[in-house]
Amino acid sequence: MKLRIQPTDRETLLSDDEFIISKTDTRGRITYGNKVLIDISCFQEHELLGKQHNIVRHPDMPRGIFHILWELIEAGKEYNGFVINLRKDGGFYWIYTNVTPSYDASGQLIGYYSVRRKPKREALDIIKPIYKQMLEVERQAGAKQAITASRALLNDILKDKGTSYDEFICTLQH
Ligand SMILES: Cc1cc2nc3c(=O)[nH]c(=O)nc-3n(C[C@H](O)[C@H](O)[C@H](O)COP(=O)(O)O)c2cc1C
Repeated sequence: MKLRIQPTDRETLLSDDEFIISKTDTRGRITYGNKVLIDISCFQEHELLGKQHNIVRHPDMPRGIFHILWELIEAGKEYNGFVINLRKDGGFYWIYTNVTPSYDASGQLIGYYSVRRKPKREALDIIKPIYKQMLEVERQAGAKQAITASRALLNDILKDKGTSYDEFICTLQH
């Protein structure tokens, strides 16, 4: 069962040289988390292992973004993006993350691998209002239509900017 955690406004910042690393099986259950993940999430290792990665999901994350993540990695591609995560104590931390599929020697998918680092503040200044709009649209659309609605909104924003999701995200962080 997922813990019910009351989010607070306490933010923890990653250092410039810190990387949060985790691995999951093909269904998104955590099989490895490095010490930085354990320290920043406030969960103990045994509380993370075997759990769905949504154990650190923050309610401020639009569902449409996770839909993009899974669509890309299940198609064998990589996902780059900005994510706010919830700590066990209710606090939060923002990350810039890269998620990739992992294969064994015979080319069989064995799971997914993610490396996260400190996001640029200027990038978050642009991302936060977009996520806020996506969340609002998801709320209005209702559970069934939430993802379609927020992805349509994101597509409109990207179209206005004349860019693709990947190009937009990578330009923000670099
Ligand atoms: C390797 C990997 C790393 C992930 N890292 C995170 C993460 O840091 N935070 C998060 O909220 N979801 C992460 N996810 C996505 C979760 O599996 C899940 O889709 C997301 O939390 C939404 O959960 P929900 O569908 O229960 O709302 C990750 C998935 C994979 C495969």
